[in-house]
Amino acid sequence: MPSLPNPFRPTAGATPPELIGRQGVLDEFEYGLRLGSGAPGLLTIITGARGIGKTALLSEAQDKAREQGWIVVSETATPGFLGRIGETMRLHLEELGPGPAGRRITALGVAGFTVTTQLPPERQVDWRRLGEQLLNELAEKKTGLLFTVDEIHSADRTELSQLAADVQHFIRDGLPIGLLFAGLPAAVSDLLNEGVATFLRRAERIDLHAAAINEVERSYEDTFRQAGIKIDEDQVRRAAEATGGYPFLIQLIGYQLWRQAEINNFTLEADNVTQAIAAASRRHEMTVIEAALSTASEKDMDFLRAMAEDDGVVAAGNIGKRLNAKSNVVANYRARLIAAGLIEAPAYGKVDFAIPGLREYLRKSRDK
Ligand SMILES: Nc1ncnc2c1ncn2[C@@H]1O[C@H](COP(=O)(O)OP(=O)(O)O)[C@@H](O)[C@H]1O
Ligand SMILES: [Mg+2]
Repeated sequence: MPSLPNPFRPTAGATPPELIGRQGVLDEFEYGLRLGSGAPGLLTIITGARGIGKTALLSEAQDKAREQGWIVVSETATPGFLGRIGETMRLHLEELGPGPAGRRITALGVAGFTVTTQLPPERQVDWRRLGEQLLNELAEKKTGLLFTVDEIHSADRTELSQLAADVQHFIRDGLPIGLLFAGLPAAVSDLLNEGVATFLRRAERIDLHAAAINEVERSYEDTFRQAGIKIDEDQVRRAAEATGGYPFLIQLIGYQLWRQAEINNFTLEADNVTQAIAAASRRHEMTVIEAALSTASEKDMDFLRAMAEDDGVVAAGNIGKRLNAKSNVVANYRARLIAAGLIEAPAYGKVDFAIPGLREYLRKSRDK
């Protein structure tokens, strides 16, 4: 019996063995890479709840870009990210060799982007000129430059609008630039509505959702069959259903199934599946749910518990009635919880949980 290492990766940002349900988005992006400057797939904002697979999708897009010869500059939107992008661009330009680009860059004397969070005006000018040089070099080589910025919900507004202004400028000049952002949906909507960068409103907005259960089932089936692990059809189905199609749970449950198979002679019986699901759910509660709830106040918790009385989407007004709270108070909590990524508003005046298993968790803790 082959003893392959466990392929599942239940860790934030880790690359999963198979990126389920994202082919369409990636195709669009690859098409954009071939078209080059100004293609819609090259200006995209990816949004979705924690653990839905934003970072994994960004990584895959980066790989695709590199395969096409593009230079990739990937950053997380912590303070100073604009300067760090500048620094990386400078290194790439140097690497492009002692040709005209190398000489021009020394003439510019560009260095030290990383010292401050917000670039002072003269650095901003340098930043843009540096970007133009690099992009012109790459355009000649028929490739391009991709920026990816993760977690933009926490970005400094000034840095973000500077980056947007520069990228807009590059696009206007027909330079081969791509920009992919990822962040939590509500916070990203706020950012766009605040008018941080009007130009970004034209970006393609991809809201990631759970994968289809059938796809998860097929993926589990393939993975286990290839590894010589035996499991019945109805048990695969049960495991797939327990994931709810939620990427982090797909990895957690897959990982635990694999461990069960290792101790059960490469066979997964109903008991093994039950245990794997239970272990994965505990882990999910600890890592995702409790972390997400750690910043919730007692009042937030009251609101959430009132929501958990329903089985699905609920009108925010009903929560107000249950809590005996005025509508402005309800609106206040609703906004806070949406911004925290705990709940979402699937329709006007409606709310639902944004994290799978949160409802069940709240019910369990209530019944304790
Ligand atoms: N499309 C997918 N199919 C299967 N697993 C995925 C997929 N996308 C992400 N994952 C896995 O889900 C988990 C969360 O992904 P991550 O990209 O960190 O989410 P986010 O950035 O949205 O919080 C990781 O363990 C990752 O390997
Ligand atoms: Mg992430």
